[in-house]
Amino acid sequence: MGRPLTIYPNYTVRKQKPVSNSFVIMTELVLPNDTNTLNNLMGGRMMHLMDIAAAISAQKHSNRIVVTASVDNVSFRDSIRLGNVVTLQAQVTRSFSSSMEVHIDVWAEDIPSGTKLKTNEAFFTFVAVDQAGRPIDVPEALPETDEEIKLYDGALRRRQLRLVLAGRMKPAEAQELKALFALD
Ligand SMILES: CC(C)(COP(=O)(O)OP(=O)(O)OC[C@H]1O[C@@H](n2cnc3c(N)ncnc32)[C@H](O)[C@@H]1OP(=O)(O)O)[C@@H](O)C(=O)NCCC(=O)NCCS
Repeated sequence: MGRPLTIYPNYTVRKQKPVSNSFVIMTELVLPNDTNTLNNLMGGRMMHLMDIAAAISAQKHSNRIVVTASVDNVSFRDSIRLGNVVTLQAQVTRSFSSSMEVHIDVWAEDIPSGTKLKTNEAFFTFVAVDQAGRPIDVPEALPETDEEIKLYDGALRRRQLRLVLAGRMKPAEAQELKALFALD
């Protein structure tokens, strides 16, 4: 099983890696230094934790140094309280040439009351770089489960949207988006 290998114009075959190899789970206890005056976890601290978990995931996929290229919309559905345990779960959804999209989910758990809530979700993009900071190709990402395939299939559309918003792609070149919005 698996998707066919992609043959590039220089006839090299890129290695494929199951996306599950990049799975990362990270837990953290919310302490007073992490909170605002309402005793809620600060948004910037949350994004720092998300960036770390997602970067480790991208490193596991690429076996390279990675840099954060972009962060898509991060929603803060519910506040995370002092003393909660934060669980971050990250996994690569798809890779392109040097870039990788990572999906991340965040839960807040109140152990004494036994409650666990999903509070945040986001997509991060990382670029693998060499020692000089130049982008370098990464293995192809191979989705296996239904959920992984769904995330993989949506990744091209999300990539085009973020590159258009970053001014790195002309809207007319964003074929997946054009199909979605029937812009013609
Ligand atoms: C990300 C970075 C390496 C891209 O370098 P660049 O010279 O613009 O390289 P390229 O134009 O060849 O793009 C390389 C890849 O980055 C992707 N990329 C660049 N900007 C992006 C953005 N805003 N969002 C998503 N992907 C982006 C490109 O799509 C390309 O992906 P691909 O190789 O899979 O097609 C460079 O901009 C950089 O180093 N930025 C600073 C990163 C940083 O300091 N992050 C915070 C600390 S880790």
